Amino acid sequence: MSFNFDQPIDRQHSDSQKWQKYAGRDVLPLWVADTDFAAPPAVTAALRERVEHEVFGYAKPLPSLNDAVIAHCTQHYGWTIDPSWIVWLPGLVTGLNVAAAMAGERGDEILCATPVYPPFMSAPANQGRVAVTVPMVLRNNRWELDLNLLAQKITPRTRQLFLCSPHNPVGRAFSRAELEQIGAFCLRHNLVLVSDEIHCDLILDDIAHIPAATLSPEIATRTITLMAPSKTYNIAGLGCSFAVISDAKLRASFNRATQGIVPDINALGLVAGEAALRHGEPWRRALLEYLRGNRDLIEHAVARGELPGIAMTHVEATYLAWLNIEALKLDNAHAFFEQHGLGFSDGSPFGAASNSYVRLNFGCTRATLVEALARLQRALASR
Ligand SMILES: Cc1ncc(COP(=O)(O)O)c(C=O)c1O
Repeated sequence: MSFNFDQPIDRQHSDSQKWQKYAGRDVLPLWVADTDFAAPPAVTAALRERVEHEVFGYAKPLPSLNDAVIAHCTQHYGWTIDPSWIVWLPGLVTGLNVAAAMAGERGDEILCATPVYPPFMSAPANQGRVAVTVPMVLRNNRWELDLNLLAQKITPRTRQLFLCSPHNPVGRAFSRAELEQIGAFCLRHNLVLVSDEIHCDLILDDIAHIPAATLSPEIATRTITLMAPSKTYNIAGLGCSFAVISDAKLRASFNRATQGIVPDINALGLVAGEAALRHGEPWRRALLEYLRGNRDLIEHAVARGELPGIAMTHVEATYLAWLNIEALKLDNAHAFFEQHGLGFSDGSPFGAASNSYVRLNFGCTRATLVEALARLQRALASR
């Protein structure tokens, strides 16, 4: 079966956050991390069938949904998980906040490396904890975590390390060696590893995703893995995510922190999540092919010097390109690009210095991306 990712879908008049932001303006929305693609046909079919049932009372995951997660983890990552380890969540920002809320006591510290998805820094603050950040480093044009820098920030109050793997926004899919070092670091400093792996099924290069919890039994017992079918299958609006926590004490503490605050998953999210995991693989493979084409378009334009003043590293995973714009020396980069019809994410909320980076979401049709790159060229030429 072939899937048509070139098909434009008008989201301007829909409930889309991404498109509503620029309603009535000629600005291409290339910011929040969802895609402009229709969900896999199998997902839409399952949702239709569920809607036909016409009753939408409180929902609870069916054992078949847990089975779908377990089968997915076995097939894709060689990870054997037990259904009791799965904690269903309405979203992964929720998961980050719950993890932060269970980290020691108020005022305790959670480490992360920047740039990073902004809730990595806001979740600890929301929960009365302190986000302690260190910059990632560029080595051989590749973004890496610097464990020496992280070690310098360890104090008696450091409780957790938040890891984004694969990484938003720098697009890294970390190697086994890198992950092993990160795991060893957590063991050495007695930290819980909160591994946000929401982008795990969006690896564009020929690299396998390695869940941190598969590195060793010792690392597994201190790891909270956060996953969801939402990014891959473009069903983020249906709120269906989960944590995998093999250690019973850690899981109990996570569950306690959800009490009375975290709602159940909605009935449609459960159905969509199961259909995606069970039947979405051919669609996902086609999606990755399409996203590789989009990524290559951007990378080639940068490599050929068609976007003077813009630099980037290779995007191994995700549909996000982290563009270095320091050389442009703009006063207000985000506004500058908006004036030229480009709605990027500003880099500062990710922890980047002002006017040094923007994030381009290339989960859009090829035609939209081609138009975006043409606008970008014109914007750069106008300076
Ligand atoms: C690393 C990461 N975690 C979590 C989320 C959001 O998860 P959710 O929509 O399930 O709260 C995103 C969305 O961009 C993300 O990139």
